[in-house]
Amino acid sequence: MSRPRILVTRKLPPDVEARALSHFEATLNPDDTLPTRESILAGAEGKDGLLVTVTDKLDAGLIAALPASIRIISTFSVGYDHIDIAAARARGIAVTNTPDVLTDATAEIALLLMLGAARNATSAIATLREGRWKNWAPTGMLGTELSGKRLGILGLGRIGRATAARARAFGMEIHYHSRQRLSPELEDGAIYHADIASLFGVSDVLSIHCASTPETRRILNRDTIPLLPEGAIIVNTARGDIVDDEALIEALASGRLGAAGLDVFANEPNLHPAYLGLSNAFLLPHLGSATLETRNAMGFRALDNLEAFFGGKTPQDLVTN
Ligand code: DGY
Repeated sequence: MSRPRILVTRKLPPDVEARALSHFEATLNPDDTLPTRESILAGAEGKDGLLVTVTDKLDAGLIAALPASIRIISTFSVGYDHIDIAAARARGIAVTNTPDVLTDATAEIALLLMLGAARNATSAIATLREGRWKNWAPTGMLGTELSGKRLGILGLGRIGRATAARARAFGMEIHYHSRQRLSPELEDGAIYHADIASLFGVSDVLSIHCASTPETRRILNRDTIPLLPEGAIIVNTARGDIVDDEALIEALASGRLGAAGLDVFANEPNLHPAYLGLSNAFLLPHLGSATLETRNAMGFRALDNLEAFFGGKTPQDLVTN
């Protein structure tokens, strides 16, 4: 029996590509050329499935134009806001993602961002590297510590809970808001807030872990930032468009917010240029899942889903909403 034909849109870790080639008739992207709309459509010709990433924008128009042979889109990511799920459903195309396997790596980056923002890492590193560090000073480069602070988690899902577990070890008190209150076991002592106004009011540090949806887009904005305590710190490892950039930049520049640690941005990689001029913004280029262990695990999970699907089984990570 012939093997299913898949298009792999980006270069993946070697072990993942080796497995893709052993199970599928896989077309790879060895030069990691950034796919365009046209190259995805051309590459999809004669294929049965696509293995895509967060850099591939599969909107309704593109999905409608895919060849009839495409039956599944497996994304190498937990987030799937880059795929129009309704359009895929309308075409009868299954969509899968890769939850669980990037939880720890992303939670570690959330803690790095929290620490980097709280301890002025951006200006401290620049001071050192630019030869401006003259001496140790009792009042120089003072930050704020996480210990004893209240951490507000917006979206206590897998990554939010893994972040909370690490923050507890730093002596933080955990608060959260999610669409629904979690079981006491999953809350693990975290204090539930029924609305974001209540959560924001107690968040010395606010860490964003919700998905990007029409309800959450730009939820941190000119109306909600004033709800946070003076000098609060914002951390975002979820999606850039959950934040209104102009409002956040204004609040960081004025000192209304103390600092931000950001790993994700609207319109990546073209982040709002004003972030680069803010010494209280600690910025990373979407590194949440960027460890070899995690990227391998994401690739294997994406392949598990394709293998299950073409083997006539229901993939474990079928996206349903
Ligand atoms: C995801 O999987 O959605 C991440 O943003 C990629 O690290």
